[in-house]
Amino acid sequence: GTVVLAYSGGLDTSCILVWLKEQGYDVIAYLANIGQDEDFEAARKKAESLGAKKVFIEDLRSQFVENFIWPAVQANAVYEDRYLMGTAVARPCIARRQVEIARREGAQFVSHGATGKGNDQIRFELTCYALYPEVMIIAPWRIPEFYNRFRGRTDLMEYAQKHGIPVPVTPQAPWSMDANLMHISYESGILENPKSHAPADLYLMTKNPEDSPNEPDVLEIAFKNGVPVRVTNVKENKSEDTPLDIFSYLNEIGGKHGVGRIDIVENRFIGMKSRGIYETPGGTVLLNAHLDIETFTMDKEVRRIKQGLGIRFSELVYNGFWDSPECDFVRHCIAKSQENVEGKVQLSVFKGQVYILGRESPKSLYNEELVSMDVQGNYDPCDASGFIRINAVRLREHHRLQGFSGTK
Ligand code: ARG
Ligand code: SIN
Repeated sequence: GTVVLAYSGGLDTSCILVWLKEQGYDVIAYLANIGQDEDFEAARKKAESLGAKKVFIEDLRSQFVENFIWPAVQANAVYEDRYLMGTAVARPCIARRQVEIARREGAQFVSHGATGKGNDQIRFELTCYALYPEVMIIAPWRIPEFYNRFRGRTDLMEYAQKHGIPVPVTPQAPWSMDANLMHISYESGILENPKSHAPADLYLMTKNPEDSPNEPDVLEIAFKNGVPVRVTNVKENKSEDTPLDIFSYLNEIGGKHGVGRIDIVENRFIGMKSRGIYETPGGTVLLNAHLDIETFTMDKEVRRIKQGLGIRFSELVYNGFWDSPECDFVRHCIAKSQENVEGKVQLSVFKGQVYILGRESPKSLYNEELVSMDVQGNYDPCDASGFIRINAVRLREHHRLQGFSGTK
């Protein structure tokens, strides 16, 4: 049979490619460009030299931003209060194209290099099964003949040497990384001890705020339908206005000022806790700006419901259910809530922080006259007395039963 392998160009998936051939499969190597720093042409040559029947290198960057990062921005998607999910939103993006290729090429199998303990296997496979129900999945790290043979990196290196797989010359970082346009994640290896600190040279996307510039950058971000449509560097008079350019520029500015670093212990879907370090510079700037313009333009009660949906969305995406009916439903509701989320936010990016400076919007629900301390507006202060007394009814009853009431 033919298998489409999600190939990264690295040692693991190179060994998997050759191993799949050994098992008798025709292998199509598929490499998604989602903004990771990679020599894609070198990876193509490598896959060809290892015997891939075909190699597909797909530039998914714009699609990744518009169809995956933007919905996450609209949702203010954050898992367990901190993780912006750069890996979780990328997996369905990668898997969708993989399945398209598999169908087009008449391949019955797809394969990936995710381990048997993580979230990524679930995310890849749920999307594959959803969009290509007949597909058969080969997950080598869950196949005993594979994982018993490759018990560690030295086994992979030996196998590589024997099969003409180029062995990495630069020493491997003592942790595992997953990089894309949205973030870089670091976990396992020496990071597995949750107490040990990340070394200073681990971070590749963001500067250490201690060494970042002593002058802020001031940005104006324009939103429409809850997504950015333009970013302007106010002092430098520089603008970007396509999704990919906007997001890349926010990464550049956020990275320059050390924005978006976190070090957390999180709960994997599979039931274990894991320690992860993430840097999401552009995403963090956007989260702050979006929260601001959203509160400015959205009705209070709509916002409360929408906030709950955002949490549900985050859990669904983290757990791999991007292509589920419930996630589709939640995305639609969130998109509906964004119709008036429009306007401009000015902010300063400085020393690892994002400081909101001001906002304006044609759809603002902010009524300066109504809220002003100096103007009456269309509002009678006498009404507040009754409003407060009625709200106090329930409180008084509670305290009467508790015996804490002043009238006891
Ligand atoms: N723990 C994060 C997540 O589940 C990051 C996973 C990183 N994946 C990787 N293949 N290194 O989204
Ligand atoms: C992996 O297991 O391949 C990486 C970690 C994860 O998916 O959670």
